[in-house]
Parts: sequence; structure tokens; C-alpha cells
Amino acid sequence: MEATKWVIIGFLEQFRAIFTTNKIKKIDIMSNFSKVVPTKVTLEANKTYAWCTCGLSQTNPFCDGAHKTLATTNQEGETVFPYKSQKISVAETSEVWLCNCKQTKNPPYCDGSHNSL
Ligand code: FES
Repeated sequence: MEATKWVIIGFLEQFRAIFTTNKIKKIDIMSNFSKVVPTKVTLEANKTYAWCTCGLSQTNPFCDGAHKTLATTNQEGETVFPYKSQKISVAETSEVWLCNCKQTKNPPYCDGSHNSL
């Protein structure tokens, strides 16, 4: 009976750990990625843009600061941000396809990876 109790406690502890880390948030994000396609945008020369890397932005493909909601605390008690925006700047004004699925191997540009989600 004592062993069963510790197995149950161990299982509950693992379950709690999963729900208190950002693993669940990442799973939620991944489920959103499968519904997205790239966005064609015009980037103006010498202007800096911030591409969203977390997938939570309401202004995708551009960052709106939503990645800050994914902040966690490390073992030293420091706030850690697992995501941050990627700055984009082009030399000449151009139309590009920016990735929204966040699975591209050529960020921030779409490489067709969304087709295999
Ligand atoms: S939208 Fe991400 S690779 Fe196309």
C-alpha cells in the first residue's frame, strides 16, 4: 500500500511539473503553427522590423511583445525569456514572404516548411 502511494505521488508530481513549466505553452503554440501560412510583406529599405519568433503575436509576422508572457524563472531566480524577436533590415525595398509557422530553416523567410506541418 505504501509503494502504491509513492507511485501515485510521483505520477502527480510529474503531472504538476509538466503543467507548471512552459512545456504546455509550447505545445499550445505548436498547435497554432499548423494553421498558418507565410505573409507577403513589403520591407522598406534601411527600416528595421521585428519578426515574431514565438508565434503568439497578434500582429504576425511582426512582433508585438507577446513573447514576454512566456518568461520563466531559472534556478538562480533570474527571469528568462525563451523567445525574442528577430530584427530584419533590407538594403533595398523588396517584397518578401515572412514565415508565420516559425519552423523555417531560413528565418525570417518562408522556406516551405509549413507545407509539412
Ligand atoms: S510559413 Fe513558415 S516556412 Fe512557410
